[in-house]
Amino acid sequence: MLDKLIHFLKSADGYISGEEISRSFNISRAGIWKHIQELRSLGYEFEAVPHLGYKLVSSPDRLFPSEIKFQLKTKKIGEHIIYYDTISSTMDEAFRLAVDGAEEGTVICAEGQSKGRGRLGRTWSSPKGKGIYVSIILRPQVSPNAVSQITLLSAVAVCEAIKNASGLTAAIKWPNDLLINGKKCVGILTEMNAEIDRIKFVTVGIGVNVNTAANQLLPHATSLKNETRQNFSRVELLQEILRRIEYWYLQFQGKGFGEVVEKWKELSSTLGKHIRIVNAGQSIEGKAIDLDEDGGLVIRQDNTGTIIKKMTGDVVQIM
Ligand code: BTN
Repeated sequence: MLDKLIHFLKSADGYISGEEISRSFNISRAGIWKHIQELRSLGYEFEAVPHLGYKLVSSPDRLFPSEIKFQLKTKKIGEHIIYYDTISSTMDEAFRLAVDGAEEGTVICAEGQSKGRGRLGRTWSSPKGKGIYVSIILRPQVSPNAVSQITLLSAVAVCEAIKNASGLTAAIKWPNDLLINGKKCVGILTEMNAEIDRIKFVTVGIGVNVNTAANQLLPHATSLKNETRQNFSRVELLQEILRRIEYWYLQFQGKGFGEVVEKWKELSSTLGKHIRIVNAGQSIEGKAIDLDEDGGLVIRQDNTGTIIKKMTGDVVQIM
């Protein structure tokens, strides 16, 4: 009911009379007033003028499903959104829901996480109301070794979303960190549940430092706010992330991975750089020369000139 009322008021041009709301929702004027009070307590601001009615003046920048869904215009991604004020990790909840059969495209988002996690067992700092912490359930009909392709397409999608929603240029550090001015602003974690030759589901977890203050950031991290001294709408950015993920996921399903690779290369900050890649305790230095069809990073080793390919690892970009 509250979701419908919000959408009704957002779509209205100016004031809308209590009588009209009452007719449209088949509830009493007192009932409407109660709902308006409830919305006020969630941070919505209204002007209420006798004889004219109610006008929604501002909405809170909270990741409420009703906010995200308003004018989202995706087909699948975000059709179901599950919202938490605080959660341990959206990844755990996404995994649990996916095991229970949640539909592809289900989104789990939270204002804050108490045990946000990153790649390689790291933690992901998730201060409440400052960032975007979201996991998306996908059920791609591909073999388990294609999972890194999903990770890379997500990085492309989020990179574009940041550009569209904030005007800022982010670059992708292989495989899936997004950097702004060389500092990490977005982390993406992909987990999957699979049989030997079939993915059952993938959960794509995205963490974006949006309005995070400098003193809440790690030394090599940044936020959109830290780069610009401006606050950004987390709702608008999350909407754009979901739209771009849907776009690239449909591309991937319809035409394969080729276009994702091309776009990834365009947005990459790793290709052409001298890097050190650490994987399973082994460290290799060389030049990152290409991204191959599977999403593997192709490196020409400094000491031997040998060309090798890496599917996982932690990259340090030297120059
Ligand atoms: C990384 O850079 O290591 C990946 C970080 C991924 C963080 C996101 S925040 C939403 C989702 N929930 C988590 O616990 N982690 C991912």
